[in-house]
Amino acid sequence: MNDDKISSIKAIDAALRLDGNPARVKEFYAQWAKNYDSDVGDACYSGPAIAAKLLSQHVADRAARLLDAGCGTGQVGRELQALGYSVIDGFDLSPEMADQATSTGVYRRVVGDIDMMRALEDFPGSDYDALLSIGVFTLGHVPPEALAVLAQLLRADGVLLVSTRSHYYEQTDFQQQVDALLDCGQLALEQVIWDAPYNHDGEAHYWVFRILG
Ligand SMILES: C[S@@+](CC[C@H](N)C(=O)[O-])C[C@H]1O[C@@H](n2cnc3c(N)ncnc32)[C@H](O)[C@@H]1O
Repeated sequence: MNDDKISSIKAIDAALRLDGNPARVKEFYAQWAKNYDSDVGDACYSGPAIAAKLLSQHVADRAARLLDAGCGTGQVGRELQALGYSVIDGFDLSPEMADQATSTGVYRRVVGDIDMMRALEDFPGSDYDALLSIGVFTLGHVPPEALAVLAQLLRADGVLLVSTRSHYYEQTDFQQQVDALLDCGQLALEQVIWDAPYNHDGEAHYWVFRILG
């Protein structure tokens, strides 16, 4: 294995050892932003492509207003644009990652320095048609409670699509959060793809929810 590959695997492993403290997560991604795309490319990261294709099976309208939550460098936006979607906004905790997303040119608007847990303050009155959050429900990043926050950024009947790394699903109470949102009638579960490809190091589950009115 060459040195570049070793360093990319180290970066991905280090991301999984974050502790969910927004200041530390931010610092980590500030350092990683420039090499993120090549590192996750080396690791065969397929989350954005799988998510965009899955979204296209639930949202036919290519003019739908989409929000990419935790957009990182913009990989999800690029995949969505390739499928014909044209109205894509994004936000991320890391200004450096958000700058990379802006430079892709595929987003209508990208905002950095946004903590998902506080997104309702930064995006008041949002009524997006669909929202994706890929690679963010992963250990050391955001807690399962973020799902309820994201749901409130969508209009009634909107589509919420998130990935959960398998070990995140196993080691957090994500399923209980889902059950609570289903039980209270806030969300309906349209589809889950269990144990689908994610990267060289493991799999993820891909969840599609519908917002109930
Ligand atoms: C593994 S990257 C995934 C980026 C992109 N979605 C992708 O699929 O390439 C995780 C991203 O989540 C962002 N993130 C972590 N915690 C966050 C939070 N509390 N609020 C918003 N973004 C967060 C990080 O800054 C990073 O850009």
